[in-house]
Amino acid sequence: MAAGEPRDGTDQGTIARVYDEHAAAEYERLDRSLLHRAEFVLTAELLDEFVAPGAEVLDAGSGPGRYAEYLLGKGCRVGLTDLSVDSLRLFEQRVDRHLAGGVLFCRQGSATDLGWLSPESFDAVLLMGPLYHLVTLDERRAALREARRVLRPGGVLVAAYVSPYRPLMKAVEEGARHEVERLRAGGPTMHLEMQQYRGWPREAHATLAEAGFEVLRTRNLQGFAALMDRDTIESQDPEGFFAMLRATCELPDLLGATLHFVCVARRPDEAL
Ligand SMILES: C[S@@+](CC[C@H](N)C(=O)[O-])C[C@H]1O[C@@H](n2cnc3c(N)ncnc32)[C@H](O)[C@@H]1O
Repeated sequence: MAAGEPRDGTDQGTIARVYDEHAAAEYERLDRSLLHRAEFVLTAELLDEFVAPGAEVLDAGSGPGRYAEYLLGKGCRVGLTDLSVDSLRLFEQRVDRHLAGGVLFCRQGSATDLGWLSPESFDAVLLMGPLYHLVTLDERRAALREARRVLRPGGVLVAAYVSPYRPLMKAVEEGARHEVERLRAGGPTMHLEMQQYRGWPREAHATLAEAGFEVLRTRNLQGFAALMDRDTIESQDPEGFFAMLRATCELPDLLGATLHFVCVARRPDEAL
């Protein structure tokens, strides 16, 4: 167990309960503001680049399935799994009937245990939730091990993280020295009633490499906008705002200066 980690590991029951209660709000989250739309747009661009139409995709930590819907719309076949039964139920209720034929399964479970799925059965795996909710390194390693196992050689992982940047900035603002010391290297924070793991891109890259992935791309999803007040953001022209974030979201020195960042990594194809 690494220093500062909760002794009992992640409380997955609380995560399931909180997301059950917030399933509808989570569905709407990515439309809530220009900042949330930027998160979706910058992530969808990576999905366009790395997930081909027709690909078989596992969305582990799908929530109510906004990205699953997006991929179904591109002609992918998508299996969804999440701790929250109500999020999966909401997806099933809302998914367009023209897209529903592409749904491989919708099943409650944890990304740390995908034993019910065959090895090498997906072209892409999304882990866009579990890696920032699993509070111990061992649990994050287990999720990465499972993602790698179910990916075909050459397949891609899209992994979302939350950065320590904002809570660290808040701790500095508040003069909370112990919190600054604690968060410098990343660590758990509370969100709603749940613990969240906050890690820097450097640690994400190291853990991905250790799990046998080759990191291809990393993008911050809010970047400079993480420092801007809401009114300033909302007064922006959307396309111009997205273009400015796009122009800065992969500057290596700014990858962690954000709320969320996303890494695209490949399971190497040893046969090549
Ligand atoms: C903020 S939502 C993100 C949903 C969606 N992937 C997105 O990026 O918009 C995080 C989701 O991760 C799920 N989650 C957290 N830990 C998980 C785990 N160990 N296994 C499966 N799902 C998990 C939660 O239940 C929740 O639905």
